[in-house]
Amino acid sequence: MTKIILDCDPGHDDALAMTMAIASPKIELSAVTTSAGNQTPEKTLNNAMRMLTLMHREDIPVAGGNRTPLVNKLATAGNVHGKTGLDGAELPDPDFKPQDMTAIELMAKTIRESNEKVTLVVTGPMTNAALFLRVYPELADRIEQIVFMGGAMGLGNWTPSVEFNIYVDPEAAKIVMNAGIPLVMAPLNVTHQAQILKDEIESIDDIKNPVAHAFRGLLDFFEIYHENPKWGFKGAPLHDPCTIAWLIDPTLFESEQMNVDVETQGELVKGETVCDYYELTGKPKNTNVLLKVDRERFIKLIMDSLRAFDDL
Ligand code: BDR
Ligand code: CA
Repeated sequence: MTKIILDCDPGHDDALAMTMAIASPKIELSAVTTSAGNQTPEKTLNNAMRMLTLMHREDIPVAGGNRTPLVNKLATAGNVHGKTGLDGAELPDPDFKPQDMTAIELMAKTIRESNEKVTLVVTGPMTNAALFLRVYPELADRIEQIVFMGGAMGLGNWTPSVEFNIYVDPEAAKIVMNAGIPLVMAPLNVTHQAQILKDEIESIDDIKNPVAHAFRGLLDFFEIYHENPKWGFKGAPLHDPCTIAWLIDPTLFESEQMNVDVETQGELVKGETVCDYYELTGKPKNTNVLLKVDRERFIKLIMDSLRAFDDL
């Protein structure tokens, strides 16, 4: 059983990552913290709580994070995730309150109270993770690993060479990548292979429970943005679920260990993740970079996760 804290900015694919974590008997989701990213901090917090309400998991503590990135002005992705950040489904209003503490305080509490090391999963900008490491350096060695969706090797989805999560807060990403904690990175190179096709989204109708029903609508909405032929996609890339999928079944992926750092200065490439594939720098191989996914088995895991709510 892997104990995790999920730091996310829901977001359609964040919501699916959260759902997979809850569905899996291999994962204990001990806390959810939210970052500003796909939408404003109020909306991402509210969305995390709406999803937990839908899944009847109000027992999982939730806290909202920093209102802005460390240096940048907040950029959001309403064009991808809609006005609410989770457009496309009728979700219940939260029927519980967030913890009376900040995201990094909840991270610290969860880690302190745990008998085992905790894995931090980050599926949004790394603002909270970076602040946590700066404010509680004494807890860094209680983190088993940081598994994150972000960055790319030679690709971008927000600028030609920069992925959205790192674009929003590159300074935070630099702090996290240089913290000396083992990292697992799901870059665009792998998440763009993790596409769910239109007919697979439609087949979710065969799963008769309220969580699957919500995802039928959410994924329909999410898929529309990715229909633009410029992407060359056949469906919608399920970025954030790659993190949880890797924790559940790493055999779904092929990966390479390498040094990854973040450019925070460049005029054209600020926010680029610089992946030292050929070991040119001699710097420590701080990151296990996921490079290939077995798409069909990945989609089966998604469907099985949705089926896990049949008794709800
Ligand atoms: C990342 O950006 C967000 O829009 C998604 O939730 C994902 O975390 C993909 O670039
Ligand atoms: Ca996200």
